[in-house]
Amino acid sequence: MTRPKMKLLVDGGDPQETRRVKDLLGFVDGQTTNPSLIAKNPHIRELVASGHKLSSREEMDEYKKIVKTISPLVGDAGVSIEVFSDEKTGAQEMFAQGKEMFTWISNAYIKYPCTAEGLRAAQMSVSQGIRVNITLCFSQRQAAAVYAATQGTKEPAYVSPFVGRLDDIGQNGMDVVKNIKRMFSKGDGHVLVLAASIRSLEHLLYCFQLEAELATVPAKILEQWANKNFPMPDNQFQYKSSGKSIPYEELDLNQPWEAFDIQQELTRKGIEKFAADYRATLSRSA
Ligand code: E4P
Repeated sequence: MTRPKMKLLVDGGDPQETRRVKDLLGFVDGQTTNPSLIAKNPHIRELVASGHKLSSREEMDEYKKIVKTISPLVGDAGVSIEVFSDEKTGAQEMFAQGKEMFTWISNAYIKYPCTAEGLRAAQMSVSQGIRVNITLCFSQRQAAAVYAATQGTKEPAYVSPFVGRLDDIGQNGMDVVKNIKRMFSKGDGHVLVLAASIRSLEHLLYCFQLEAELATVPAKILEQWANKNFPMPDNQFQYKSSGKSIPYEELDLNQPWEAFDIQQELTRKGIEKFAADYRATLSRSA
């Protein structure tokens, strides 16, 4: 297989899975994790099933152990580690977590949600040389806000548009990836598109065609890709979606991030679900 230009990350929370994918592909460029994926980690599941619910400190320590095991398995796209947040978590609190998590491994990217508080935390982070991945992005406007908020970053920031969750509500989620790529082609390249919530081989192939800089993909889909002998989209490839198309918007990337309307119901719901999955692993007193 010729190694694709687009970086491939494993979307998961189990180092064994990352190893398996690496054996299959010969490489893994990076990894993304999130609170739901960490709650599904086999060791954490075992602990919870045996009745040992974790304190929030223990949960952080387990998360740290997981990313420390994954870190040496992957390449320079790094390991994305997500801060814990719910609707009440402020920027300072997210930033404090991000600062700690960034010390866990040498190739960390800190994931903040694409909300006003998350973007404030990202701004603080990039000013201190902390690499960021802005997650739960569902619109071109949110991506424009990420671009504005991360100006001056030493290393490229990532923005993660969530394809599958837009498909789930009857939209063509891949349009958001396409639109952001088009918008960023007029920018200075300091934000890279990391296509996320990839649910099918067709999503993956279209990401290659759109030349997303990175895609994070569940092991299951990467295994399907390998089993088909690593197909790449040719000139005939046409991505088909039954979802409603999302039109491109002309946006001025040089505005301050606060100028963009970043409200998205799916971002709010995503935070709620991550918080619930995280809390389900904790003891009540934690
Ligand atoms: C990765 O950064 C995301 O957390 C992940 O791709 C979400 O995927 P899902 O919508 O399938 O949960």
